[in-house]
Amino acid sequence: MVIHIISAVPELLESPFQHSIMKRAADKGLLQIHVHNLRKWAINKHGQIDDYQYGGGAGMVMMCEPLTNAIEELQQEKKFDEIIYVTPDGNTYNQSTANQLSLKENILIICGHYKGIDQRIRDKYVTKEISVGDYVLSGGELAAAIIVDSIGRIIPGVLNDETSALFDSFQDNLLAPPVYTRPADFNGMKVPDILLQGDPKKVEEWRYEQSLQRTQERRPDLLKD
Ligand code: ADE
Repeated sequence: MVIHIISAVPELLESPFQHSIMKRAADKGLLQIHVHNLRKWAINKHGQIDDYQYGGGAGMVMMCEPLTNAIEELQQEKKFDEIIYVTPDGNTYNQSTANQLSLKENILIICGHYKGIDQRIRDKYVTKEISVGDYVLSGGELAAAIIVDSIGRIIPGVLNDETSALFDSFQDNLLAPPVYTRPADFNGMKVPDILLQGDPKKVEEWRYEQSLQRTQERRPDLLKD
């Protein structure tokens, strides 16, 4: 999979993909990430990419011209399966969207700043608008990082033990069960007996019950879906 990201602050995206599972995905040739500085397509030598909004009001809007030139230049190299704009007024992101996106070959993500991008860019180019939650970030970069990370880790072959992604929270609309490691008794706090007995079927049943209980307590909304 190849993901291109257009950003006014590409420095914010320097580290998130260079470690751990995202690094492994890149090293295995399964995920390529290209971050582009929008200022490369600025309208003047001052690096201008935004302007005041029509109708008045505080906050700048990212202009049509730099974004159009950036998108169209990248489109000349490849056709994108999705052009995503990350924005607090987009559809709320979840595991199901991550699963769908992980099946795509080429994705372009546009990060907004300030008041966001000119609506005409959304109308003309954007195929999916995604919010990572009901709060406002200072820019789209961290949202883009969340999306790339959540997609990257479920590309087949990225995780060593592929089944581990299948048992993540949300994969079956359930939260993950509690997990334990050594020692079996830590300062009097004991690991549940069933996990020590070596019966995989019983362990599986116990985990399922725990998942269900956790979901009922913390996220009953997931069970309604
Ligand atoms: N940009 C600013 N806030 C955001 C959010 N919650 N989701 C996606 N992009 C954003």
